[in-house]
Amino acid sequence: MSAPRGQFSSKLGFILAAAGSAVGLGNIWGFPTQTASNGGGAFVVVYFVLAFMLAYPALMAELIIGRHARANVVTALGSISSSRFTRLAGTAVGYYGVVIASLILSFYTIVAGWMLAHLIEPLTTALGLSNISAWLTQNSVARNLATAATFALITMWIIARGIENGIEKWSTRLMPMLFAILLLLIIYVMTRPGAMEGLAVYLVPDWSRVTDPGLIIDALGQAFFSLSLGVGTMLVYGSYLSKRENLPGIGVIVTLVDTGIAFIAGLLIIPSIYVAKHYGTTIFTETGELIAGPDLIFQVLPTLFSSMGEIGLVAAFAFFTLMSIAAVTSSISMLEVPVSTAVEQTGLSRPRITYVIGTVIFAISALLIFNFPALFVFVIDLTTKYSEPLLGVAFCLFAGWVLHRDKLLAELKQGSPEVESGIFWKVWPLYVRVVCPVLILVTFFHSVGA
Ligand code: PHE
Repeated sequence: MSAPRGQFSSKLGFILAAAGSAVGLGNIWGFPTQTASNGGGAFVVVYFVLAFMLAYPALMAELIIGRHARANVVTALGSISSSRFTRLAGTAVGYYGVVIASLILSFYTIVAGWMLAHLIEPLTTALGLSNISAWLTQNSVARNLATAATFALITMWIIARGIENGIEKWSTRLMPMLFAILLLLIIYVMTRPGAMEGLAVYLVPDWSRVTDPGLIIDALGQAFFSLSLGVGTMLVYGSYLSKRENLPGIGVIVTLVDTGIAFIAGLLIIPSIYVAKHYGTTIFTETGELIAGPDLIFQVLPTLFSSMGEIGLVAAFAFFTLMSIAAVTSSISMLEVPVSTAVEQTGLSRPRITYVIGTVIFAISALLIFNFPALFVFVIDLTTKYSEPLLGVAFCLFAGWVLHRDKLLAELKQGSPEVESGIFWKVWPLYVRVVCPVLILVTFFHSVGA
């Protein structure tokens, strides 16, 4: 039963891993495009307010439960419960989280595979292999299966190596690269014609939209997905964090990095769209909305890159490397949820379990690829729109009502002895017990139209 548990070797390692999980396609693709279609700067403002007022407290709930229980999500929720009912409920919520994390990984792997395809394409084009380039950029079942399988293998390879040698080592290597590529691309795009028009669309808020319910719902969903909340990822990462670390402080840093990178990614994507417009690419749909879905990443931006000549190949390579790095530091955190649960519940070896579970999840990806129109959007909605917010509420309720106040305080005091007299302890318990669950539920029922 008791396989030895890993632990992050340093505070920085944990921060980069947790930020790596948080910073993903949701930040670099989702955030800028949601901003563009939701009134520019108004969305940015609402997003920041919700990220700190609702998502941060929910993040703290997961980190505290995880570090306190020092276990995977199923065992953790079961073990903090003292009554039979809460233990059963905790175990059920834990398993639901494991299933949802796995399903998110199944569709994320497909999208990440597209990023890999577009990352390799500039190389094959530079080598004059135009057939392969065409195969890589045209949508087909074979292409999707091959690139998703490659991405799934990379994810499994890292997770099989464990916490310190896998998750921490690769997050520490990749996150600085991600940041550097992002900055270089922004500097380059800002010097292109049309960029300033995009910057204005991004940053000038249309204040009349701030109270728009649709905008608020989108911003809340985006904040939860972006901080990897509601599926036990942050709980599991928290369970590998040393008791010496100050949890509220670390949570603030992770939230700041996540929202900061989302904001910075907007400085790249939206001006790029307007540079593409300047070069004659259509950037609006027939109804006048900005193109935001896959067409943005796989048509608008590639058209922009190819209009730039040879430097365009370098820009495309850099851009899709950025996307692939963002995807892999997130996908490993998703796979860690089922893997940690299975390793700790069966006592079998981590590498073996990783490859078995990874293969099962890839089989689900393959199922989605074969039944794309029927299943792809369905699974995305089921996981991110319906399950994540509800699971987020469950984690808040467990941290607020099930884990006793004195245990919460004792957990927080390890690493931050002065916490009792600070603002966090005055506000957070009430937040996580009442304010967060109520607000998440209100927004949820609004968004599903109930
Ligand atoms: N936060 C990731 C992103 O922004 C997605 C994610 C969701 C990662 C849930 C882990 C768990 O892309």
